[in-house]
Amino acid sequence: MARLRGAAGRAGSGTKKMGGPSLPIEMVELTGKTRVYAVFGCPVEHSLSPAMHNAAIAALGLDCVYVPLRVEPADLPAAIGGVRAMGLAGVNLTIPLKEAAVALVDELSDEAREIGAVNTLFWKDGALCGHSTDGEGFWMSLEGTPGQSAKRALVLGAGGASRAVCFALARRGIEVTIANRTPERARELAAALPGSHAHGMPAEPEDLARAAAAADLIVNCTSVGMSPNDSESPLAENCIERGHIVCDLIYNPRETLLLRTAREKGALGLNGVDMLVNQGALSFQLWTGIMPPVQVMKAAVTGAL
Ligand code: ATR
Repeated sequence: MARLRGAAGRAGSGTKKMGGPSLPIEMVELTGKTRVYAVFGCPVEHSLSPAMHNAAIAALGLDCVYVPLRVEPADLPAAIGGVRAMGLAGVNLTIPLKEAAVALVDELSDEAREIGAVNTLFWKDGALCGHSTDGEGFWMSLEGTPGQSAKRALVLGAGGASRAVCFALARRGIEVTIANRTPERARELAAALPGSHAHGMPAEPEDLARAAAAADLIVNCTSVGMSPNDSESPLAENCIERGHIVCDLIYNPRETLLLRTAREKGALGLNGVDMLVNQGALSFQLWTGIMPPVQVMKAAVTGAL
């Protein structure tokens, strides 16, 4: 049995550092029966997924291990052939592989099909299936907050992360306004959403101010404000009011300028750590049938950050 020794969630304290985030383990005993999970990405060196999944594996005492594997985009078909050939038990996909994986699996979930991206490969009755847990992971991160009662959302950005968030919101009947630097992308995404309450627009100051005033939930799905550009914000300060729920999918820094402004205005601010942890927990559940301890995974992520 693979034993992952050391307290889960102690990433960064008393663990080995081998460049990049340290794993929350001190020693791994692998056997012929150990189930192997992986994250494919390019780059993958800074992925926090190994830390959080191995922390959950250790906490549950499972005979499993989760490894980061660098896969160049051109090698993805061969790598997915390797998943089949070597019988990997489950895989996460990250940038820039999520979209290309759609065409390489035996079956696609509705979520993966509608957002056009796969972040999780899992086995079902001998078929290799592609799914995306990003949208549900985002929704879960609003649990216990007024965010799940939102009526109108302003979503900043129209890329891959935004697609997952917008579908998760629109499927629940929330009216979504998408603002993007490239407005055509926002309009295309709005047109693809279920229901007739979505629209896309440019991310111009007047448009943003109007849309923010009408929204109760604001979600930043752009990379604006991400380290090292911590002094940037995708939204002017005067757009944020006390009643807003402001989510930033960025988790580095943990408090972006957007979230600092939200805090200073008395609005509720949520960073991207919970979404990261929840999408991982949902993948883990698909693979093992067990909902992992999300607090253990979160401690591993925050320790590694
Ligand atoms: P992800 O998968 O993280 O969503 P993506 O698909 O590359 O990444 O999308 C990035 C999003 O951030 C896009 O909406 C992008 O706007 P464009 O569609 O106009 O490219 C937005 N974005 C990135 N850098 C930005 C910047 N400096 N200012 C405004 N928007 C930016």
